[in-house]
Amino acid sequence: MTQCTVQLGDRAYPIEIAAGLLGQTACFDVLADRPRLLLTDQNLARLHLPRLQATLSLPDDSCLIIPPGELQKSWDQAERLFDALLARRFARDGVLLTLGGGVIGDLGGFVAALYQRGIDFLQIPTTLLAQVDSSVGGKTAVNHPRGKNMIGAFHQPIAVVADLDTLKTLPPRELRAGVAEVIKYGLLGDAAFFAWLETHLDALLALDPAITAQTIAHCCQMKARIVAEDEREAVGGGVRALLNLGHTFGHAIETFTGYTEWLHGEAVATGMVMAADCSARLGWITPDIATRARDLIARAGLPVKPPAGMTVEGFKDLMGHDKKVAKGQLRLVLLRGLGAAVLTADFDPAALDATLAAAVA
Ligand code: NAD
Ligand code: GLY
Repeated sequence: MTQCTVQLGDRAYPIEIAAGLLGQTACFDVLADRPRLLLTDQNLARLHLPRLQATLSLPDDSCLIIPPGELQKSWDQAERLFDALLARRFARDGVLLTLGGGVIGDLGGFVAALYQRGIDFLQIPTTLLAQVDSSVGGKTAVNHPRGKNMIGAFHQPIAVVADLDTLKTLPPRELRAGVAEVIKYGLLGDAAFFAWLETHLDALLALDPAITAQTIAHCCQMKARIVAEDEREAVGGGVRALLNLGHTFGHAIETFTGYTEWLHGEAVATGMVMAADCSARLGWITPDIATRARDLIARAGLPVKPPAGMTVEGFKDLMGHDKKVAKGQLRLVLLRGLGAAVLTADFDPAALDATLAAAVA
């Protein structure tokens, strides 16, 4: 088993990574004898919940099961969950467990952050995306029709338990979406890891156990370091913002498509291609780096162009809602080299225009 720690003083917490953890009571010792409720979706309820229920002796009426999908990450669904917690008289000594992908983790974390001014929650991520990214770091949110993740809170889990066996049932498209976030770590901060991925991508897509474990542990270690340094994504431009490589473009795609057609990881994939393209047009990276980024993303079976119907003006309008906008100025995460991302407003807007025009052509 790999264990890493998110070092946040008295809110530090472990990330456990190994196969078979859903069957191991020791991973959940942190719960002690506290009351617990579990949030999951219908897919996980069918595939993995029974094993966890057996491990934790969790009765059916302690499991809140909602439909799957990004549309559930909504204020309306959060309100229904507040109601369910209140109806069960769930008190502040309880722990909310989230079993699922980023949608369940973000939504459950958001509910935990607000319910009775904040209760503990424990993340059990079951998608590659959630195991390498969303379950770690305490960003919780619901979407707003005007923008992705616009209503949220920072609220750290008390532990993350990533069982690699759960990935075996993940649909291939969801696996590829998670690979996008894996590639992101290489592009933003680790050229050697990017090169390692170029060699091991096929093994990762085939869920080779050793390669998968190594990939997830590496990404979690990177994320844990970044979160420990800049927990709340300092508005002035802390290191955490770099995790948003590709997201300003990607969130525009997700909002444009109504959170239904494109998966988050797919939108981020195209967004990273666009960020690399813009960086190359600015002369900040050589064209071959942009080509390597595009090629690896394409090899992973991810989209490299935005959906039909998006326009330069449409992109700009949606990108104007980005949470990284400061003093009315759009800031982008761009590349100064392979593995060397920066957050900046100081770029020639003509390069962005050219990237957008080329992307939607
Ligand atoms: P998801 O949660 O929608 O899960 C994808 C689909 O896979 C769902 O249908 C789910 O039911 C199914 N599924 C999950 N695990 C499964 C398994 N083991 N076997 C079979 N099916 C399974 O999608 P996601 O890609 O995990 O998460 C995307 C969300 O994460 C987005 O809302 C994004 O904004 C958010 N996110 C948050 C952070 C953060 O730091 N909080 C970081 C990255 C992404
Ligand atoms: N996924 C971006 C972050 O956690 O900051």
